[in-house]
Amino acid sequence: MKVSTHSILYNNEIKKGYFLMGFECNTLKKAEPGQFITISVDGIEANMPLRRPFTIYKINNSTVEILYKVVGKGTKLFSTLKPGDTINILGPLGNSFRMFENSKIILLGRGVGLASLACLGDSLKKLGCDITVIASFKDESSNIIDDYIKSFSNDIIVVEDEDGTSSCDNVRKIIEGINPDVIYSCGSKRLLRMLQKMKYKSYVTLEERMGCGLGACLTCAIKTPSGYKRVCKDGPCFDVMEVII
Ligand SMILES: Cc1cc2nc3c(=O)[nH]c(=O)nc-3n(C[C@H](O)[C@H](O)[C@H](O)COP(=O)(O)OP(=O)(O)OC[C@H]3O[C@@H](n4cnc5c(N)ncnc54)[C@H](O)[C@@H]3O)c2cc1C
Ligand code: FES
Repeated sequence: MKVSTHSILYNNEIKKGYFLMGFECNTLKKAEPGQFITISVDGIEANMPLRRPFTIYKINNSTVEILYKVVGKGTKLFSTLKPGDTINILGPLGNSFRMFENSKIILLGRGVGLASLACLGDSLKKLGCDITVIASFKDESSNIIDDYIKSFSNDIIVVEDEDGTSSCDNVRKIIEGINPDVIYSCGSKRLLRMLQKMKYKSYVTLEERMGCGLGACLTCAIKTPSGYKRVCKDGPCFDVMEVII
């Protein structure tokens, strides 16, 4: 794990309010699916004492990408950065997903949570898995499916709030129709609770609010059957039966 400064190669708005940022970073080459980095911008004018956590979206040789949604002060600042501007990176942090070979997989992502499953999908595909993405969005304006996600998916099923297809009942039926070996999920506590009641082996990556990102401040602590765990240090990837939501 290293703190380092990197030049931004591109920071493109791929959809209103959603950005894909790429930067050169050799130290993250060996990061594993599910691990995250924290980012800050140096300088008094940035006024950014707390680093912001993001999952690595894609690693392509020495270029690393994150896909982020603008939600508050930090991400708004990131969205103004231009090629050649620098960011400060700490990582890779946290644990990674347990992986399976030659298995029938569902990646169940809600909103920008799908971005946290992309690197995993790419790796599982290389391990011979058959991958169905179930992507849940509010409406078309938040649909972030791009060519990268398409490249590792055997099938993509989009469900939306607008037409009611994103209801737990409907998602449950879709999952039962596929009958997967393993499900990975991110972005929705409602879907997480649903998975806890289903019979499938399931994993989740949690996006709790973080302070230090290093296991020291306990801001990210969650309840588990074996006591409190820190999402940044003991996670962010957990077996769904390991978390109490
Ligand atoms: C492990 C992990 C991976 C993540 N990966 C992604 C990703 O790939 N793409 C993406 O768009 N978002 C991701 N997030 C959420 C992202 O970190 C927050 O949206 C971002 O920190 C918000 O910062 P802000 O200053 O714009 O918002 P503000 O609300 O102004 O943030 C204030 C403070 O709360 C924290 N915070 C706010 N919302 C969240 C949140 N949902 N999760 C954690 N901390 C939060 C911030 O770090 C900051 O310290 C991830 C979060 C975690 C924990
Ligand atoms: S964010 Fe400080 S312990 Fe997890």
